[in-house]
Amino acid sequence: MRKRAIFFGIVVAVIALIILAPVTIVSWEYTNSDAFCTNACHQVHPEESQSHKLLSRHREVACVECHIGRMDFFDSLWDKVGHTSHAWAMLIGYERPVHSKSLQAADKSCIRCHTADSHPKNTLHTVERFAEDKKNSSQATHLVMRLHGRQFGRETSLGLDWHTSGAISYWSSDPQQTQIHKVVATLPDGTQRTYTDIRAEAATVNGQAVERELDCLGCHNRVGHPFPGPDKILDDLFANGTLPRTLPYLKQELMNLYRQNTQPVEDRPARERLRDDIRQILAQHTREAQEEPSASPGLSAERLDQLEELVEAWIVSAINLRSHEMDWQNFPSHTGHTKSPGCLRCHSGRLQTEDKQIIPVNCTTCHSIPLVMKGRSIPTYFLEQLDLRKPRDHRDETYLAIHMDQDTESCDRCHGAIDYGEDDKSHCSNSGCHGREWKYLDLEAVRAALAPAEAGQ
Ligand code: HEC
Ligand code: HEC
Ligand code: HEC
Ligand code: HEC
Ligand code: HEC
Ligand code: HEC
Repeated sequence: MRKRAIFFGIVVAVIALIILAPVTIVSWEYTNSDAFCTNACHQVHPEESQSHKLLSRHREVACVECHIGRMDFFDSLWDKVGHTSHAWAMLIGYERPVHSKSLQAADKSCIRCHTADSHPKNTLHTVERFAEDKKNSSQATHLVMRLHGRQFGRETSLGLDWHTSGAISYWSSDPQQTQIHKVVATLPDGTQRTYTDIRAEAATVNGQAVERELDCLGCHNRVGHPFPGPDKILDDLFANGTLPRTLPYLKQELMNLYRQNTQPVEDRPARERLRDDIRQILAQHTREAQEEPSASPGLSAERLDQLEELVEAWIVSAINLRSHEMDWQNFPSHTGHTKSPGCLRCHSGRLQTEDKQIIPVNCTTCHSIPLVMKGRSIPTYFLEQLDLRKPRDHRDETYLAIHMDQDTESCDRCHGAIDYGEDDKSHCSNSGCHGREWKYLDLEAVRAALAPAEAGQ
C-alpha cells in the first residue's frame, strides 16, 4: 500500500515536472522578450518602444539587456520580482513622463557588451543641419572631440574614461538628473575635490539631492530611446542620404505636416489620411524636381514606397508623443549641451570648490573651436590649428570668461583676423560660439571665481 503511494507520488511529480518545466521555461523566456515588455505595458508608454525600434542603434538589443542586465539566474529572478511594482503603476496610472527607477547599473548591462575604456581616441564629429528652404540647404559644424583627453595642460589625461573610473560622485534632485548640485571627484594624483553649486540653496544640496556614482548611464541616458526632436530626425535622414535633398522644400513640407497634425494618429483611417498627405508631398516634389533643368533623375516607384513608409513611421511617432501632452523635450540627452545642459550640468562654471576651483568650462577642454560651414571639405587652417600648442594663458580655467577683454594684437598670429561675430568668415567670427544662447553656461560665476587681484585688473 505504502509502496503504491510512493510510486503514485513519483508519477504525479514527474508528470507535474513534465508539464511545469516547459511552462516555466516559456514564461521565463516570454518575460525576457521585447514583446512582453512592450505589449504587456504597451498602452502605458508606446513611445519608448517606437523610439527603440525606429531610432536607437540598440534596436536589436532586448529591453531586458539594459533594464535587467546580464546576471546569474537567481539575481535576475529577484530583479524581475522587483519589476512587478510596474503592475501596480499600470493600475493606478504612471507619472508622465515615465522615469525608469529600476535601471541596472552599467557594469551589469553596458559593460557586458562594451568595455570600461570606450573612448580610446579623439574623433572628428560633424553635426549637419538642413534649412527649411527650397534647396534644403545644409550647414555643417565640425568638431574634433577630445573624448580621450585634453592634449595639453595636465600630465595625466582626464578624458571620458576617467569620468567612469569610480572617480566621480554627484548629487542631483530631479529624476532625470538635469540639475547637479554637488560633485566629489578624485583626481589621478589622489586629491579629492568637492564642488558645490554656488547658485543652489544649501537646503537643496544637502537635503533632497540623491547621491550617485557617475557611470555610462549618467551621460548616455538616451542610448535605448533617443528622442532628438522631429527637426533633428529629419536632419539625420538628409545627412545620411535617406531623404533626397534634391526634392525642393522637402524639409519644410514635412515639418509643416508635423506642425499641422495635432491629433494622435492611432486608428487605421487616421494613418491612411496621413499616408496620402505624405504621398502627395513626395510625388509633387519629385515632379517639381524633375522640371528643374539641373534635376537628378526622379525617384523610382519602389524608392518612393520606402520613403513613404519611413516618413510615416517617423511622423506618427513624433505626433503621438506630442499627443500625450509631452514632446522630445521631456527626454533630455546628457551627451552634448545644445538642447539640454548635458555636459554643462557639471561644466557650467557654477560648481566650485571652497577655494574657488571650477570644473573646466573652456570650450577646447572637450573639443576644438567649432568650425561652422556650408560645404563638406574642411579647410586646412582648421586642421593646422589643432596641431598648435595653446599659449600658457589659454590654459587658465577662466580664460573663456576673459578672452574678449584681451588686447587682440597678438592673437592674429594663430587665429587670423580677430573680428568677433557670427558670420563664420573666420575662427572668431563664429556662429558656433557667438551666435547662440548659452543658458547653461554661467560666465558670471566663472568671473566670480577669479582671484580678487585678477578680477580687479
Ligand atoms: C541600450 C539600452 C536600453 C535598451 C535596449 C532599452 N532601454 Fe529603456 N532605458 C534605457 C536607459 C539608459 C533609460 C534611462 C533614461 C533616463 O533615465 O534618462 C531607459 C528608460 C526607459 C523608460 C523610462 C522613460 C525614459 O525614456 O526615460 C522606459 C519606459 C523604458 N526605458 C522602456 C524600455 C523598453 C520597453 C525597451 C524595449 C523595447 C527598452 N526600454 C530598451 C536603456 C535601454
Ligand atoms: C547586448 C549588447 C549591448 C548592450 C547591453 C549595450 N550595447 Fe551599446 N552597442 C552595442 C552594439 C553592438 C553597438 C554598435 C551598434 C552599431 O554600430 O550599429 C552599440 C553602440 C553603442 C554606442 C554608439 C551608438 C550610439 O547609440 O550612440 C553607444 C554610445 C553605446 N552603445 C552605449 C551603450 C550604453 C551606455 C549601454 C548601457 C545602457 C549599452 N550601450 C548597452 C551593444 C550593446
Ligand atoms: C561624461 C560623459 C560620458 C560618460 C560617463 C560615458 N560616455 Fe561614452 N561618450 C560620451 C560622448 C560625449 C561621446 C561622443 C558623442 C556621442 O557619441 O554621442 C561618447 C561616445 C561613446 C561611444 C561611441 C564611440 C564611437 O567611436 O563612436 C561608445 C561606444 C561609448 N561612448 C560607450 C560608453 C560606455 C560603455 C560608457 C561607460 C563605461 C560611457 N560611454 C561613458 C560621453 C560619455
Ligand atoms: C557629474 C559631473 C560631470 C559631468 C556630467 C561631466 N563632467 Fe567632465 N569633468 C568633471 C570633473 C569633476 C572634472 C575634473 C575637474 C578638475 O579638473 O578638477 C571633469 C573633467 C573633464 C575633462 C578633462 C579636463 C582637463 O582639464 O583635463 C574633460 C575633457 C571632460 N570633463 C569632458 C566632459 C564631457 C565631454 C562631458 C559630457 C559628455 C562631461 N565632461 C560631463 C565632471 C563632470
Ligand atoms: C564639458 C565638455 C564641453 C564643453 C566645455 C563645451 N562643449 Fe561643445 N560639445 C560637447 C559635446 C560632447 C558635444 C556633442 C558632440 C556631438 O554630438 O557629436 C558638443 C557640441 C558642440 C557644438 C555642436 C552642436 C550643435 O548641435 O551644433 C558646438 C557648436 C559646440 N559644442 C560649441 C561649444 C562652445 C562654443 C563651447 C564653449 C563655450 C563648448 N562647446 C563647450 C562638449 C563640450
Ligand atoms: C600661439 C598661438 C596662439 C595665440 C597667439 C593665441 N591663441 Fe587662442 N588658441 C590657440 C590654440 C591652439 C587654441 C585651441 C584651438 C582648438 O583646439 O581648436 C586656442 C583657443 C582659443 C580660444 C578658445 C578657448 C576655449 O577653450 O574656450 C579662444 C577664445 C582664444 N584662443 C582666443 C585667443 C585670443 C583672444 C588671443 C589673443 C589675446 C589668442 N587666442 C592668442 C592658439 C593661440
